[in-house]
Amino acid sequence: MTDSKLRVLLPSHKIQARIRELGEEISRDYPEGNLHFICILKGACFFLTDLARAMKRDVFVDFMGISTYGKGKTSSGEVKVTKDLDISLEGANVVIVEDIVDSGVTLNYLMHLLEQRRPKSLRIATLLDKPERRQRPVEVGYVGFTIPDKFVVGYGLDFAEKYRNLDDICILEEAGETAVTA
Ligand code: IMP
Ligand code: MG
Repeated sequence: MTDSKLRVLLPSHKIQARIRELGEEISRDYPEGNLHFICILKGACFFLTDLARAMKRDVFVDFMGISTYGKGKTSSGEVKVTKDLDISLEGANVVIVEDIVDSGVTLNYLMHLLEQRRPKSLRIATLLDKPERRQRPVEVGYVGFTIPDKFVVGYGLDFAEKYRNLDDICILEEAGETAVTA
């Protein structure tokens, strides 16, 4: 895809190599017991499928729909569950699989919500982290890449639902203030 507004930040081969490392690290950290990956829709679904296949042990996968953003690129601070999990988390090791931690609003909310479901352990794996933008504290267990405060698209990340299917993660130049969905 050629688009003059896109500048490659992380090429596909780097993303894939880092995910293989994360898969090995997470596999080592959970040698036994049930392990659940919870994919936060929609942005994290590409990361989830590659990370699950990079694992050296079996994992359960489940999906949760969350919406945080109203209009524009700043979080409204309101979090809504739009699709809940199918599988119980009680007594399980749980890893939330997210595309990006930005303000931290989504994951701060989600950690509190899922802790109430009494998992044995609960951690976050995020492909990208933008620590400069943090408004709420979030303890992130696994980070693929720490990136600067730029709006990025591709590999699941969108701008108004566009660009999710890019192989690379790109900086979107001059992104306007239209609707962005989480
Ligand atoms: P939060 O601000 O940490 O709650 O992040 C909420 C959601 O905003 C993330 O899960 C992403 O779906 C979305 N988001 C944050 N930063 C970006 C970005 O740079 N590009 C695309 N989506 C983003
Ligand atoms: Mg998201």
